[in-house]
Amino acid sequence: MTTRQFPSEFVWGAATAAYQVEGAAAEDGKGRSIWDTFCEVPGVIVDGSTGAVACDQYHRYAEDVSIMAELGLGAYRFSISWPRVQPDGRGAANPRGLDYYRRLVDELRAHDIEPYATLYHWDLPQALQDAGGWPVRDTAYRFADYVELVTEVLGDGVSNWITLNEPMVAANAGYGDGIHAPGIRDLDASLAATHHLLLGHGLGLAALRGRMRPGSRCGITLNQTITDLASAAPADAAAARRVDGHNNRMYLDPVLTGTYPADMVDLFGASRFAFVREGDLELIGRPIDFLGVNYYRRSLVRATSGVDGQTSGVLKAEVILPQDVDVTAVGWPVQADGLRDVLVHLTKQYPGLPPLMVTENGAAFADPEPASGTVDDPRRIAYLHRHIGATHDALEAGVDVRGYFVWSLVDNFEWAEGYTARFGIVHVDYASQQRTIKSSGRWYGKVARTGTLPDPVTQAEHVAKVDLS
Ligand code: FCB
Repeated sequence: MTTRQFPSEFVWGAATAAYQVEGAAAEDGKGRSIWDTFCEVPGVIVDGSTGAVACDQYHRYAEDVSIMAELGLGAYRFSISWPRVQPDGRGAANPRGLDYYRRLVDELRAHDIEPYATLYHWDLPQALQDAGGWPVRDTAYRFADYVELVTEVLGDGVSNWITLNEPMVAANAGYGDGIHAPGIRDLDASLAATHHLLLGHGLGLAALRGRMRPGSRCGITLNQTITDLASAAPADAAAARRVDGHNNRMYLDPVLTGTYPADMVDLFGASRFAFVREGDLELIGRPIDFLGVNYYRRSLVRATSGVDGQTSGVLKAEVILPQDVDVTAVGWPVQADGLRDVLVHLTKQYPGLPPLMVTENGAAFADPEPASGTVDDPRRIAYLHRHIGATHDALEAGVDVRGYFVWSLVDNFEWAEGYTARFGIVHVDYASQQRTIKSSGRWYGKVARTGTLPDPVTQAEHVAKVDLS
């Protein structure tokens, strides 16, 4: 291995999401989201915390932008909180909410950092959940109205738009398994949520196309995994195919080809897809300018019986941990080759694929406390080195991948894990809100500024304690 150079126009960024970093949960007219409500349910967040304050980015955005500028990052992917813009999810915009995003975008532009705005990163207005949430078709139309309001005000400053973040997780964790807001456990609700999220994407895309500045780009972010077989048994192969269908193809196929995968329609039963109306898939399958890929891990799958009446009872599959693989603080296996494989697989599988952007990749580790003005996190540096290397491998294999965003800029509220999982390249002391750039932040900044991934020898200076072989 030697030093690897990325194209000069390659985008280097960091990502966050509104509920995970903003705080100010009830300020300046913001309405409640399903996450405000969900966090109040005893026992659902491991440390009993909420995103009410989080990293207080609502008040400290200028400091966070200056940190990105200091590191030399070229782009910031943030999300817009729907209930901050439309407190009840319908009707007129809340001007103070929109004003916050205008100030954030101005600040980014003043520092030459390109804003990438995600319009939905899981914080549905509670009032819309009270009316049925994503399982209800009307929510998709409400989303398109909200997108119009946002684009009218931010369309001048934002040229890169992402309609949805990981609709698979929003539908399945939120409505199928009940481990995320709004905490519903209902297979039919999760399938209807999937379709209406995707319809929201299609309608949102049309709203964006009608209003955004010429030359702007819009896409969607889907989390991707590679499924591996636990054994050579045909039952495990079939189980892996079902997991791939449920996690990946149920979203990729409609967005990229305007169809639901036939094996998934058979598996769940055509009658369960009665919510699909004429014209929906045509809207959902309209061209996008880029596909955002979030990558964290591969999935090793084996057949199992699952629980009757729940999604697992239909999928009859479980994801298990491979042996002899490092795991992160949230128990995810570290498998950098999966990122290359995902990018290559997408390119082979979907002819005419738009350019790809890695919109999230990163890891939680049990970092030490800040000392002498830094946090020494060699495992995160090693993780990023491998995954950015895997992105370069994909480029060399001919994949059109145009950018990489580390998850996350700052330690933040990690959904059901609360504040126990630190993913940031910048440490946050939640009591004082003090930011400390971790050594991974400095390391990543250098990669971003130079577009160069150091070779393992130079790398070793940074990560003396970590074996990079
Ligand atoms: C992704 C989410 C993001 C963050 C990371 C760790 O699934 O999009 O908000 O929680 O996982």
